[in-house]
Formats: sequence, C-alpha cells, structure tokens
Amino acid sequence: MNLQFPEGFLWGGAVAANQLEGAYQDDGKGWSTQDVMPHGIKSAPTEVPTDDNMKLIGIDFYHRYKEDIKLFAEMGFKVFRTSIAWSRIFPKGDELEPNEQGLQFYDDLFDECHKYGIEPLVTISHYETPLHLAREYDGWVNRKMVEFYERYVRTIFNRYKNKVKYWLTFNEINSILEFPFMSGGINTPLEKLSKQDLYQAIHHEFIASALAVKIGHEINPDFKIGCMVLSMPIYPLTPHPDDLIKAMQSDHKNMFFADVHSRGYYPGYMKRFFKENGIHIHFEPGDEEILKHTVDFISFSYYMSTCETADPEKQIRGEGNLLGGVPNPYLEASEWGWQIDPQGLRYVMNMFYDRYQKPLFIVENGLGAVDQLVVDGNGEKIVNDDYRINYLQDHLVQVAEAIADGVEVMGYTSWGCIDLVSATSAELKKRYGFIYVDRHDDGSGTLERYRKKSFHWYKEVIESNGQSL
Ligand code: BG6
Repeated sequence: MNLQFPEGFLWGGAVAANQLEGAYQDDGKGWSTQDVMPHGIKSAPTEVPTDDNMKLIGIDFYHRYKEDIKLFAEMGFKVFRTSIAWSRIFPKGDELEPNEQGLQFYDDLFDECHKYGIEPLVTISHYETPLHLAREYDGWVNRKMVEFYERYVRTIFNRYKNKVKYWLTFNEINSILEFPFMSGGINTPLEKLSKQDLYQAIHHEFIASALAVKIGHEINPDFKIGCMVLSMPIYPLTPHPDDLIKAMQSDHKNMFFADVHSRGYYPGYMKRFFKENGIHIHFEPGDEEILKHTVDFISFSYYMSTCETADPEKQIRGEGNLLGGVPNPYLEASEWGWQIDPQGLRYVMNMFYDRYQKPLFIVENGLGAVDQLVVDGNGEKIVNDDYRINYLQDHLVQVAEAIADGVEVMGYTSWGCIDLVSATSAELKKRYGFIYVDRHDDGSGTLERYRKKSFHWYKEVIESNGQSL
C-alpha cells in the first residue's frame, strides 16, 4: 500500500509535565493535585506529597531536558507536545503575579526545542491543577476558576507568543466525568459530587476554554488552539437496536465535549439529559457569546475502543484508559487490559472529521508495556520492543487510511515518547517510550537514557514521511 502523509505533517511525541519533570517544588513551584496522587487513580489523594510518589522525581526531565530534546531531534521530531505545570507559574493558583523562575524554565525549554526546529505543542492544563485551588475552591465547581485560568492563560500566551503556536486548553477534558480530582481539581469525591455540580464544573471549563481561544487569537492571530478529548469509539456489543441506542447514549456523554468546543453551543441530547436529571446549568450573562469562540482544531488521545450493551447481565466493565466499557470479544488486550483496535482509530478520525470538518491532531497513542533492557551484539544496551513497533505501525497505517478517506490531519504525537510515570497507576514499569529511562518503581535506577529498537524505527518513519511503514 502506498501510504500518503501530507507535506509538513507534524510527527513527534507527547508527554505531560507532571509525569516526567520531577522537581516538584524547585524554583518556587507549588504543589499540584498530582503531587498527592502517589497511586494515580487507584487510591484516594494523600494530604501532602509522600515519598512513594514516583512523580516527585519523575524522570528528572526538569534538569535533563536538553539531553532528551537532543534525542527527540535525533529521531527527527517536528513537534514536541508537553504541558506547562500551572503550579510552576502560579504556585497556589490564585496569586495576581506569576513566578518568574517557572516562566523562565519554559522559555529555556521552548528555546531548546526551536534550536532543533521542533515546534512545541503545549497543553495548558494536563491533570495538574494547583493543589490549593482544589482544596480551597473545590476546583472547577467554583466559577472563580475561570478567572484564575484566564490570568494563567494570558500570562503564558503573552510570554510565549513568539515561541509557541499550537495550544491545547485541557487534557482529555471529558475524563472529569469519572475522575473529577485529577481532571478538574475537584476535591469532593465522585461519590459525593452531585451531577449538578459536576456539569456546572464542566460548563466553567467550557467557558475557560472558549475564553482561551478568544484571548489567544487576540494576542497572536497565528495561534492554533485546540480542544483535547479522550476518544474511545463505543461499539454496540450486539446488533440489537437496544445495544445500538445504549452505545449512542454513552457516546453522547463524550461527544458532548467536542461538540461544544467545535460548534459553540450545547447539543439537544444534553439538554434532554439535563432535563431528565434535574440539572440546571447556570449561564452568566455573556456565556453564550463566549462559547462561540470555537477551537481551530480537534485533538484527541486514542488507545482503545470499547463496547456497550443494554443487557444488564453483560455489563461487565473491562480495564481501560480512564473511561473503559464492556470488553470486545474480537480484540486482544495489552498487559494492562487495554483492548487494541487500530481500525478504531480510522473510524474515530472519520467520525470527528465528518462531524466538524475541522483539522485533527492525534496527540496521544501508544502501548504501555514492560520492557527489558538487554545488551546487544555490539555491547550496547537496548530494548527489543517489537510489540511497540507493531502497535504503532498498525495504528499509523490506519491514520494513512483515514487520510486517504479525506480526513485532514495536522500531525501525530505518540504518547510517552520517553518513558515516564503512568497517569492511571503512577508506575514506571508501564513504559511507552522510544527512549528507555533507567528508573524503577522501588526508586532505584541511574536515570540514564537508552535508545530502544522503536527509536530507530520511528526515526525512519519520520525521515520517509511515513513511506517506510
Ligand atoms: C491519557 C493521559 O489518559 O493516557 C496521559 O492523557 C496518560 O496523561 C496516558 O499517561 C496513558 O495512560 P497511563 O495510565 O498508561 O499513563
């Protein structure tokens, strides 16, 4: 098959500040929600940061980023997706003045990227709300968050207006439905959080996101600002019409987020849901107008698909990327139980594009696996990660299929291009990278970096603009 990727396709990799930077209180950084999540979503947050939290040191990217970006450049990256840790810029979140040392760090980081012709793609909020905002304000339930976010956004947009062109407002914004603390800095536990407060919090995020689009375009009309959603196509478990409707309704819960971001208004199916659940979203004067500042592109993560059924006896919830559903009997799964479905990526890309006709950016995709560092024939340390190469290869072929279907795609950043701490389980043994980092869950390791087999494979993919696939 002759795979065609457009000229200027943005090939690269993605990470998030809290999963790799470490230096959790260096240079004036405040604590974030991640600093009190030593086991990811697997247990309740702790009061204060504890030593068993792998993210406090991460892979020490904060001090080693020059070495890492050099390796990304060696692979030929055109783009590098990372996030700004909000609590480096506003340590508590509600200050009026930013922390200059935090700003300087990202200046240096973006300069380092540009040195190699790598374009930064920046997530403004990636699961790392300043902890003070969670504890004092209950996160996005509180309308004051819009003001704090706006101040933060104005600060970074003005500061980096000539260094960053591509921005994402909230990472996987729809994950707030299941993980309000991690995703929305909401301190109230999910079981105590009313639907009213949850959807009001979502409304506040929509307003903040649309304001970011408005302000960003005023500051630099060349900015491209996207939303970021966790995409997971939901298939009916059987052809029974009840299963189809159930799948559609589950899908609506997620599509709602991309719909508002792309169309600028609430869809009818959500109005019905609000009515049936006694939810009244409070719109402040001007909110409807603000929402009309729709995103320039849709970005999304894609790891897996899932199924839905109306049959109560078959509603077994499988493992999965935050919003898992009923397992698909036709698919195999990763070591962490995430079902592997490359064609689901082609499907989801067609679906987004047909729905919005806006360009897409695949900003996360990859395989979390246990890797073995071995010594090869030349005495070099390497990981023979053919399983990762196969996963990425199969998914990229489907990206090419979607492009052939007419879908407009800006780029692809594979998740965790260098090993980092996992979000759901906060482990390091779940590795995604092209670059192996010698650090382990017991805290041991030298933090040395090693090229995996996939490193050389991805380099060739980029060099050939996908022709080598
Ligand atoms: C996405 C997140 O949900 O999936 C990332 O945006 C996360 O932050 C990635 O790391 C993979 O999940 P995990 O739990 O394997 O790290």
